[in-house]
Amino acid sequence: MSDSASSIPQDKLVRVTFLPEGRTVEFELGTLPYGHHGKAMSFLDVAEHFGVFLDHACGGACACSTCHLWIKEGADGLSEADDDELDRLDNVADQQLNSRLGCQTVITRPGNYVVEIPKWNRNIVSEGKPLQ
Ligand code: FES
Repeated sequence: MSDSASSIPQDKLVRVTFLPEGRTVEFELGTLPYGHHGKAMSFLDVAEHFGVFLDHACGGACACSTCHLWIKEGADGLSEADDDELDRLDNVADQQLNSRLGCQTVITRPGNYVVEIPKWNRNIVSEGKPLQ
């Protein structure tokens, strides 16, 4: 499924695919209203804007790690992890080299991004949290 606006200039287009659902959303960089879900233009902020479920028990305050994601594509266009995020990532299940927190990882430039929600987080979805 794709949510896209065909009028977006290619040099400003951000395309984010959330796995395993395979939902792809598209928007023009810098145009999404900040929804106060983690940092502005974070994957959590984007997911919330488009109704993609990404758990965020602490509300995006870098205090829980339930927004853990694996970055599959587009790492070069993302903000660097700060010390708070790195400390939090040390304690996540299934930590990998491409692990980031969805609420802290900010999309900084146009391009294609693919992120995967780890299995333990997907399980939360299957147990009845809102999958929109
Ligand atoms: S939502 Fe809690 S650390 Fe990201």
